Amino acid sequence: MADGDLHASDVGSHHAVAALRKALGDFAALPDGAAYGMSGRYYVDESYFTHEKRTLLSQGWHCVGRADELPNVGDYRALTLLDEPLIIIHTKEGIRALSNVCRHRGMPVAEGCGNARLFVCSYHAWSYRIDGALQLAPRMENAGFDPKSCALPSFACVERFGFVYVSLSETPSDLDQDLDGLYKKLQPYDPTTFRVVHSAEEIWNTNWKSLVENFMEGYHLSVVHKITLHGYTPTELSKKGPTGPGYTSYTAHYPDHIPSRGQGAAGLNVAQKHASFLFSVFPCQVVSISPSLLVSLSLMPVSAGRVDVRWTMSVYGDDLTEDTIKERIALWSEVNREDREKLERMQNALGSRHATSGPLAGADYEGTVKDFLNWIAQEDSRYL
Ligand code: FES
Ligand SMILES: [Fe+2]
Repeated sequence: MADGDLHASDVGSHHAVAALRKALGDFAALPDGAAYGMSGRYYVDESYFTHEKRTLLSQGWHCVGRADELPNVGDYRALTLLDEPLIIIHTKEGIRALSNVCRHRGMPVAEGCGNARLFVCSYHAWSYRIDGALQLAPRMENAGFDPKSCALPSFACVERFGFVYVSLSETPSDLDQDLDGLYKKLQPYDPTTFRVVHSAEEIWNTNWKSLVENFMEGYHLSVVHKITLHGYTPTELSKKGPTGPGYTSYTAHYPDHIPSRGQGAAGLNVAQKHASFLFSVFPCQVVSISPSLLVSLSLMPVSAGRVDVRWTMSVYGDDLTEDTIKERIALWSEVNREDREKLERMQNALGSRHATSGPLAGADYEGTVKDFLNWIAQEDSRYL
């Protein structure tokens, strides 16, 4: 395949990026029944990562958590998304995303999480209201200083399904259009009413795309998760779900002898109660939802070989006892550990010149990987 022919000296160069982009278009053009994945360089090349960061990652919508993590006005969490320091804050007008960079000389004005009435910069004590407006700049004497022009800038921020999404773009895509079809799938679960019971932050030394692909394919379930998942979501019961302009999905059905795991919302049918539905909101969120449990991983890519992951677990109403919730947290922590261990070992091997393009399994097992590749190729084609 074309991108397997790159010379080592090309790695990190403009030529390598151009060759990978060309290969992406070629691979997306392959029919779904004869799909191939990209070569290792797509996952390890830092120049290509820089290109992704400038383009589809900066343009895309990123899940930054659940709305119910910030229940009260003033509740906030600081985070860094693609080198951009942000404050996600519950204002009187709803949840907003502000720049976490002081307008004086650039200090971050907030740290960690908590509840604030004002953000006071730790450097020279400029203070900002929670809507970002500058409240006070002590001892400032400067004829050109206009406090009104010194508000913290804001970013596009919306809530969907109880998740908070942020885009760094000034002209983000229409998220509702991107997710066309997904609403109908999720509505019966009543996703906005789930409540967070656990969150964790982890560093995964892998490429962000590998993590999306791994979470979204059922092919590895019975191999990697033999003890943890195989008993109730075996590979052979994976079924491809709908894909749309900005997402893909599959359903992991439970074997007949496994009882439903919780009741969930009233609108769910028997089949939905007997399966987990997994979806990815491109580029960086992967989710598993079942009647009583919602697990979401927000991926924050840092380099070609590192992605910071924040994951949350939410439950439906009082479906699960405290003990069951503890068990589910332990189970998912172990499942994530199993995936991370595999992906980190694979990341090392993907640097090999022998990590060339390989064939993908059929639609039910790896069709979602092809959907993701198609989406990246489509997005990438919009940039010169
Ligand atoms: S950098 Fe924030 S007050 Fe000076
Ligand atoms: Fe997995």
